[in-house]
Order: sequence, then C-alpha cells, then structure tokens
Amino acid sequence: MSRAQGVPAARARGDVERKIERLIAAMTLEEKAGQMTQSAGPNTDAIGAEQRPPLPLEDAIRQGGVGSMIALIPKAQMREYQRIAVEESRLGIPLLFCQDVIHGHSTVFPMPLASACSFDLRQVESSCRVAAREAAGQGIKCTFSPMLDIGRDPRWGRVCEGAGEDPYLTARMAEAHVRGYQGDDAAAPGSLLACLKHFVGYSAAEGGRDYNTCEISPTTLRNVYLPPFRAGIAAGAGMVMAAFNVLDGVPVVANRAVSHHLLREELGFEGVLVSDYAAVDELIAHGVAQNAEEAALRAVLAGLDIEMTTSHVYHHLPHLVRTGKLPESRLDESVRRILRCKFRLGIMDDPYQSLDETTEASVFCPAHRQASLEMARRSMVLLQNKGALPLNPNARIALIGPMADSKNLLGTWHFSRYTDETVTLKDGLERLGANLICRAGCAVDAAIPGGIEAALEAAKAADVILLALGEREEMSGEAASRQAPELPAPQMELARAVAGLGKPVVLVLTSGRPLILEWFTRHADAILETWFLGSMAGEAIADVLFGRCNPSGKLAISFPRQVGQIPVYYNCLNTGRPYQNDGGRFFSRYLDGPNAPLYAFGHGLSYTQFALSALSLSSAVMPMDGGVVVRAKVKNTGGCAGEEVVQLYVRDRCASISRPVRELKGFIKLALAPGQEETVAFTLCAKDLGFYGQDGQFVCEPGLFDVMVGRSSDDSEMLSAILEVRR
Ligand code: GLC
Repeated sequence: MSRAQGVPAARARGDVERKIERLIAAMTLEEKAGQMTQSAGPNTDAIGAEQRPPLPLEDAIRQGGVGSMIALIPKAQMREYQRIAVEESRLGIPLLFCQDVIHGHSTVFPMPLASACSFDLRQVESSCRVAAREAAGQGIKCTFSPMLDIGRDPRWGRVCEGAGEDPYLTARMAEAHVRGYQGDDAAAPGSLLACLKHFVGYSAAEGGRDYNTCEISPTTLRNVYLPPFRAGIAAGAGMVMAAFNVLDGVPVVANRAVSHHLLREELGFEGVLVSDYAAVDELIAHGVAQNAEEAALRAVLAGLDIEMTTSHVYHHLPHLVRTGKLPESRLDESVRRILRCKFRLGIMDDPYQSLDETTEASVFCPAHRQASLEMARRSMVLLQNKGALPLNPNARIALIGPMADSKNLLGTWHFSRYTDETVTLKDGLERLGANLICRAGCAVDAAIPGGIEAALEAAKAADVILLALGEREEMSGEAASRQAPELPAPQMELARAVAGLGKPVVLVLTSGRPLILEWFTRHADAILETWFLGSMAGEAIADVLFGRCNPSGKLAISFPRQVGQIPVYYNCLNTGRPYQNDGGRFFSRYLDGPNAPLYAFGHGLSYTQFALSALSLSSAVMPMDGGVVVRAKVKNTGGCAGEEVVQLYVRDRCASISRPVRELKGFIKLALAPGQEETVAFTLCAKDLGFYGQDGQFVCEPGLFDVMVGRSSDDSEMLSAILEVRR
C-alpha cells in the first residue's frame, strides 16, 4: 500500500478506514488477539504466567500471535521479525517496535526530573527530538514516554522519571515531550509515537513503596494527577499506558471507570491503551481475577487494547468470544485503534522503515552530544552557595568521593551502547585545566580500607574540596523505593571527616530523587544538585563549577528536611489550623521540626541575583469570560549574566472545595545581562483559575484570588496582588 501523499487528509483517512475494516473482516479471532499482544522479545525472563504464546517467538509471529514488541534487540533481528510478520504471516500486518526511550537513546540526556528543573520547554522538546531521531533510526517507532506521574514522595524511586510535584509544569513537559517525539508527522523517519504513562495515580503509592496501594480522592485525581494526561492527549499522544496500581480498590487495568469512562469519555482519548509490564497477569495477585482467563476478560472488558509481555489475551480471548462471554466487537474496537496507530506511524505502508542498515541515524554524534550537554547545563540546581562557587580557576582542588571519577551518571532506563564514553566529573574538570587531586574515599555504599585517610591527605593540600557524593543509578527508578532517602553511611562518614578539616566544601550531588541533606546545609559551603545528567554530565558540571555556565535550574520537587515530613509539597491545602510559625500549640505543625521543606519547589540559586518589582494587573476585576494580563519587572542586580525563572502563582481564597495555598500557573525563563531589566507578562483567564469540583465538573467560581509572582514558591519577596473574578 503506497502512502497517500498529497491526498486530502479526509480522503486519505477514508482510505485508511476502509483498509482497516477490510483487514478486520478478514482476521480470525486468534489474529485479532495477536494484534492485542505485545511481546517482550526473545530473551526475557518470564514474569508469572507464560511470557508469550507457548511457541518460539518466530512461530508466534508467523501465526499472527504478536502485534508489537518491546525491542531491546539488534536492528537485524528486528528486521527478521518484521520480515516474518510481513511475508510469512497470513495477513502480513507489520509489527510495531517499542522501547523505553525515557531520556535519550544512544546519546543519554538528563533524567526527566532533571530536565524538568530546567523549566526550559524548548530545550526539552529538542532533547526529545534527538532521542526520537536516534531511536527511530534504530527501527523503534514508539516510546513509553513521557512519564507524567506527579512526584510528591522521594521514597518512591520513580520520581526521577517524571517532572516533579507540580501538575502545571508536568503538563507543559507532557506537551514538550509529545511535540519532540512525534513532530508534525509521527510517520516521519525521525519520529516516534509518544505513550503517556502511567495512567493514573501510580506515584501516590502508600509509603512511597513501588507498586503499593494508592488512595486518591476524585477531586485530587482531577486537579492534581490528571492535568498532565489531559495536556498530553490534547498534544496528540498516540498511546497511553495503564498503570499497575489500584484506584478505588480496582486495578486500573481492570477498572472500566478509569480505563474507559475517565480516559475515553472524560479525557477524549482515542488512541491505544497498553497495559504496563505483565499488569494483566498481576490481576490474579491483586485478587480480582481467579486465573489467566478471567484476567484477560476483565482487562479487555475494562477497555485495554494491548497486553504487555504476558499472553493471556492471546490464549483466552478466542474462547471467551466463542462462548459468548466477550463480544467480538470489543476486540474489533481494540484492533481498529491498533491498526490506526500503525497506519499513522507509516509502518503499514513502509514496514521496514529505518530497519535497514542505510538508515543508521548519526547516533551519539557531536551534535547530539552537544544537545545533551546543553540540557545538562540547564538542569542542575544550585541549592546553597555561601561563596565557594564559582571556583577560582587557580584553586588547588581536592575532588573527593565515589562519584568523582564515576561513569555512573546516566540514571535509570537507558540502553545506550556508549556508556564508556560518559564524561566523568574528573574528566570535565581536567578538560578545564583544573589543578586537581582525586580520591574516591569510599564506594557508594561501602567503605574502602584507608580510603578516608587517603582522601584527607589529599584534601589537606587543597584550597577547596569538591565532595562528589550520591546514589548509584540502580538506587532510583523502578522497584527502587528507599525508606531513608539519604546518602549511604560510608559517604556520610567520609563527609564528616572531610568537613572536619575546616576548608570550603562543595557538595556535588548525583541522585535520582531529593535526599535528606540537612547536615550539609551546616557543613558544606555550597550544594549543587546534579541529578543524573547523562552522557555529558562531567563536562556540564565542571562548566557550572567554574562559572563557564551560570546555573539556572529550579527545583521541580521539594526537598524534605526530614523523612517524617513526607509527603511535603508546595501546593498543599491550608487546613483549618494553618501554623503561622508563632509557637501556637493547637495548629497543624510538628513538635520536633518545621513544616517547611528544606528546599521548596521552584528554588534554585544563580551566581548573580535577580529582583522582581512593579507587579501589575491589567484590571483588578476580571469577568468570568474575560482575561487579565499580569506584568512584573525582573532585573539582574548582580555582577554576571544569568537566567531567572519568573514564576506565576495563584490562590483561590474561597471556593466550594478547599484550594491550594498557591498553584503554579505560568513561568518564563529569561536571560539577563548585569543591570538589565525586562518586563514579563502572563495572561490569566477562567480556565487557569478553575478546578474540578466534587461533581467532577470543571468550574471557575467568582471571588478573590491572590496573584503572585516570585523566584520560587516560597520566595520571601513574592509580589502579590488581588484579583476579583465576577460572574
Ligand atoms: C515497566 C515500567 C514501565 C515501562 C514498561 C516497559 O515495568 O513500569 O514504565 O514502560 O515496564 O518496559
């Protein structure tokens, strides 16, 4: 079938629909169930039940028993599987190859949480464009990204995969990822289909323990967890992944209220719903299915289109239809969505797109590495700086710690073949000619005999000590929950020893989540959160440490002062007894510590300073169907060029449900030279000020709103004005 080039979209769409209906009419029940089956590929450990049809994968494909595949295999092997599907199966329907391209493919970019801290949507989109170009060049046509789970609990290891705690920022990141991956045409050689995940509420796992139970009220679901999915769907994402967790006691995969009514009817999603890995089989462990057949039935009745990596759908759906337990029309609905997706991606017309050697994209090329470097430079967050940064270029530096010369800077979820080329911090500093002595001092979570002594010996001769500490990649990400999100004891022992020398100490932190850092606020001069920055990490960090690049990142997630504060996030409700830090007893407070986090959402320092002034509203009164322009001046009052993220927050003072003390509703990142002053402008209208009420409907209610502009969510110099909304 030749692609419809230049044919009016409507007729092309009509042609596709006719082809789809002809295919569905010709398919057997087994072939329909096969399209709804996603294999984990040839070499995967079985999880629970049978991993795929009890046949060699080639035979299953030949029989039309597989519709898509998670492809962690060489391109030549993908091409052979595709050849079998196209040339040896009865209907020749091509396979869709998928992968978790979460933060880059061959060139690894900063973890999503890190790039969210850049507050730079353009940079994030271009990073996703590079990732798509590299992955699509390897035959991948769908990525299980962006992850849109709202991260409020750093015990949960997967906060590193999302965009932090704020629905507005995560929604904008969703749009940037979808635009970057899909481009203007998902069928284009350098494009991927985006898959929004994990639908929905997975990150609310109790205790921060991965895969644990989630309890989310309907208003919190719609006002906090759903906005990023609404944005990603509106941006045109072609796929959504159903999450592992229960909602209201029923696993999402078997929960028609969520997988159909919410996703399809309320959010209007028309694309493909794929389960998470073996989540259909897990319905048995959840206790909502007696066996594989019932698991397949419940999942498909709930609205699932593709079963990922287990094959209960393939084994049981034909029998369920033949015995009248499942209408064939339900299968047709899923197969229709899957085939539309394959047509949209162009693989029905060109199954071998990017599967031949000639289309080897220029992976890990200088331009891609430069893109990763740019993203990394803008993703770091300077949490504290009493003057040690930027470093004096002539300083004698002791680089101490397990991350000092480690290549373990890529973060979870990467499959790059270029890990040996990762730029370490030592590499980066040496490239800048640093006067350096380097000692590990300890391993990530183990002491090294004599390690501390050797580190102290090196540190004694130094002017400044860089403490390169942190987590290993595997300590965050999936199935990596931690009860105590802090640095391992051997690293703390090293830090205490080094701090005892009384020299300036700069903590350079590598982590996939906020860690408990309060000790360092008193014993380190500066704290730089570098997250996992990808292939060019060391070069980017060295650039920031030496001031070649002024840090501009802002926290997308709060840093708790103590584990006991978790969950702590900026857009909280006021409660009926808000504590005013005045010592009052019967208020919402702790006896043994403050309510405020150590570092709040939106916090991030620069080597220069910025001042905001002259907040103005185009009108102090806004009609419900009108809008208002919010303006403020921002000035670089320091001695070097830098970038500030000016943040717009609102608070609905009184509504039919309790509303957060502030909510991000806009941000502008701008570069300013020393002394330069600019005016930034935001617009607000009812859709920015409204919320979902207890009836599930979106509403903006008249009344008073605080409109605030600041440099962080807890800016002590936050500018504020009152806006009255009238019917
Ligand atoms: C994993 C993750 C999901 C990922 C999928 C495929 O279990 O939960 O985020 O996309 O399996 O690898």
